[in-house]
Amino acid sequence: MRFTFVVDPLEGLNACHDTTVSLMEAAQRLGIEVWVTGTSDLALDHDVAVAWARPVQLSEAIRANGRWMASEAWYEAGRAERVPLTASSAVLMRVDPPVDHAYVAATFTLDAAARAGTFVVNDPAGLRNGNEKLLPLLVSDLAPATLVSANETDIREALRRWGLAVAKPLDGMGGRGVVILRDGDASLGALLELVTNCGRRQVVIQEYLPAAADGDKRILLLDGQPVGVINRSSPPGEFRCNMAVGGIVTATELDSRDIEICDRLQPVLRARGLHFVGIDVIGGRLTEVNVTSPTGIREAELLGAEDASDRVVEWIADTAAATSTQRNGMAAGRTSRWPSLSKI
Ligand SMILES: Nc1ncnc2c1ncn2[C@@H]1O[C@H](COP(=O)(O)OP(=O)(O)O)[C@@H](O)[C@H]1O
Ligand SMILES: [Mg+2]
Repeated sequence: MRFTFVVDPLEGLNACHDTTVSLMEAAQRLGIEVWVTGTSDLALDHDVAVAWARPVQLSEAIRANGRWMASEAWYEAGRAERVPLTASSAVLMRVDPPVDHAYVAATFTLDAAARAGTFVVNDPAGLRNGNEKLLPLLVSDLAPATLVSANETDIREALRRWGLAVAKPLDGMGGRGVVILRDGDASLGALLELVTNCGRRQVVIQEYLPAAADGDKRILLLDGQPVGVINRSSPPGEFRCNMAVGGIVTATELDSRDIEICDRLQPVLRARGLHFVGIDVIGGRLTEVNVTSPTGIREAELLGAEDASDRVVEWIADTAAATSTQRNGMAAGRTSRWPSLSKI
C-alpha cells in the first residue's frame, strides 16, 4: 500500500513538531510506502490525476525526557517520478494555509484522484468549501458571537456591544494577524484599516472570550471522534495561545462540553469528508475548525494519546481498503484493532 502526502517543502517541516511528519512515520511503521509531492507537482493529464512525487524514507523521531528528538537528516527522498495518484491508496492533503489559487488548483487534481478511487484526506471539495474560521458557524450556538465583515460601521457597532473582540484574517494560521480590538481605542480606526485593507477585505470579528486566559484547547478529531487533546496557553506578554508563537502546551482532558461539541460536529464533518481535523475550543466555545493541515499530534502523543498517529493512519488505510473493495464489488471490511475511538 502507498500513501502520497501533498506537503509544503519537506526541508521546512519540523520533525519534532509537525503532525505531517508523525503521520508519515506512522505510515512507514505500518509498512505503507510514503511518497511526497507538492501542490505545483500535481497535474491533470486529461482526466487522470498525476504527480511528480518522491518516495521517502524516514528516521523516526524518538521520545526522550518528555520531548521529541529527531536527527537533522530525518528523511531521505528518492528521485521524483511521474506517477498516477491512483497508484496510492490514499492521498493526504497536508499543505498549510492560505487556501490560495495554488491550493485550490491542487484540490481540483485531487478531485480527479478521488473520482478514480483514491481516498483523499481531507475531501478536496470539503477543503474548498469549508473555511476554517467559518465552519464553527455551522453549529452556531457553540461558537462565540461572530461578525464576518469589512464594514467599519458594522464592526464598530459589534464592538460597542462586546467591548472587546479579536479580529482574524479568514485565511490565517498559527495566530498570524490575530489582533485584539477594544471599543473606544484611539487606534481602532487605523487597526480596522490594516485588518480590512481599508474596507476591502472581510475579516472575522469574534467576541473576546476571557476564558482564553486559561488556554485554547486543541482537539484532534478522526471521523468526528477525538484521538488527542492538548491545552495551549499564551506565553508571557502575548495573548495568542498558538504553538507557532510560543504557546505553552499542557495536558488536559475532554469535559462534557467538549464532548458535546465533538458530537454535534461529527455529522457536519462526515457530510463534508473532513476526516481528520483539529478543533480549537476556548471556554467551551468552538472558535476554529482546522481542516487544511491540523497539528498537535506530536504534543498529544507526549501527553497521553500515545498511539494517535497510528490510529489515524490505520483508519485511513482501512477506509481506503474498504472503499476500493466496495468499488470492486466485493464484501467490504476489516475491523480495526483499536477499541472505540469515541472517548479518550
Ligand atoms: N474569541 C477569542 N477570544 C479570545 N482569544 C481568542 C479568540 N479567538 C482566538 N483567540 C486567540 O487567538 C489565537 C488564534 O486564533 P485562532 O482563531 O485559533 O486562529 P489561528 O488559525 O491563527 O490559530 C487563539 O489561540 C487564541 O489565543
Ligand atoms: Mg487556532
